[in-house]
Amino acid sequence: MIDELRLEIGRHRESLVRELAEARSAAEITTIRERYFARKRGVVTVLLERLKTFPAADRPALGKEINEFKGWVPAQIEEALARLTPAADSWFDASLPADPPILGHRHLLTHTQQELEAIFARLGYAVAEGPEIETDYYNFTALNMDEDHPARDEHDTFFIEGWPDRVLRTHSSPMQIRYMQAHRPPIQIIVPGKVFRKDEPDATHSPVFHQVEGLLVDRGISFAHLKGTLEVAMKSLFGGDTKIRFRPSYFPFTEPSAEVDVSCFLCDGTDPGCRVCKGTGWLEVLGSGMVHPQVLRNGGIDPEVYSGFAFGIGIERIAMLRYGIPDIRLLYENDLRLLTQFG
Ligand code: DAH
Repeated sequence: MIDELRLEIGRHRESLVRELAEARSAAEITTIRERYFARKRGVVTVLLERLKTFPAADRPALGKEINEFKGWVPAQIEEALARLTPAADSWFDASLPADPPILGHRHLLTHTQQELEAIFARLGYAVAEGPEIETDYYNFTALNMDEDHPARDEHDTFFIEGWPDRVLRTHSSPMQIRYMQAHRPPIQIIVPGKVFRKDEPDATHSPVFHQVEGLLVDRGISFAHLKGTLEVAMKSLFGGDTKIRFRPSYFPFTEPSAEVDVSCFLCDGTDPGCRVCKGTGWLEVLGSGMVHPQVLRNGGIDPEVYSGFAFGIGIERIAMLRYGIPDIRLLYENDLRLLTQFG
């Protein structure tokens, strides 16, 4: 009986030390103190009551031990409180400057997209967005790529299991048709957004990337308007001395079609070993052309009355060129060592 009580006091000591070591606030310590000293059912009170059940001969020795314990508890509590609150003059200096808050910032791709949006907004373009899950019709057929058109193979398409005729859009061009079907000319839009291709990721390919589509349709629109528009836009983007070059190309939904290069912003063609243009002096930045008459018709617009131009820009490509980013995957890894360089 006596030994049992002694063991119990020992266990109380151990658990008090443990609880106080874990306590993180004065409030927690107060709660612990109350458990030991509560008038009803407090640990010390209960021990003293138990003392009465022992034979009179044992009580003095046991009482002494309980009293020792009773005196020991407050000392432990004082110590714990002192640990919690180091001396007032050392723990808080209100005159020190605060740690600067860590602010986030826009991602490089968001920044580049918004910059393109701002450039085209100044030229009078509205921003339109289209669905990322497209029908086969809008993604291909309406853009002059019917079922056996070879250009379909170049777009390694994600199909959706159990949902025939739906694809993840392979480019932003389908929104050309959707927008023409819903609006009368003059039409002047850009369409920023994600596009998807079943490409193996490598330094220049990602299964998800971003494009900005442009479409302008009105009476009397010519290739000269396309050239002037892209020249202004590329000068805003790459600097006022930038020259642009149109190379004949092919897209099913434009006729004629052109690929557009800008002069190298780093060396302007003067450095045969230039890391940006590889010595060619030119950087390929976008595809473009006059909207194909059949594409206008598919959009419900009479090609005898209206004409238009379109272009498609890869956002990653622009960002990588301008900021010298060697691998497209760096743009998706969210590594702060990269991201914080572009605050
Ligand atoms: N949709 C094309 C692609 O993803 C890019 C493109 C080229 C868009 C020419 C256009 C255009 O609007 O006129 O490869």
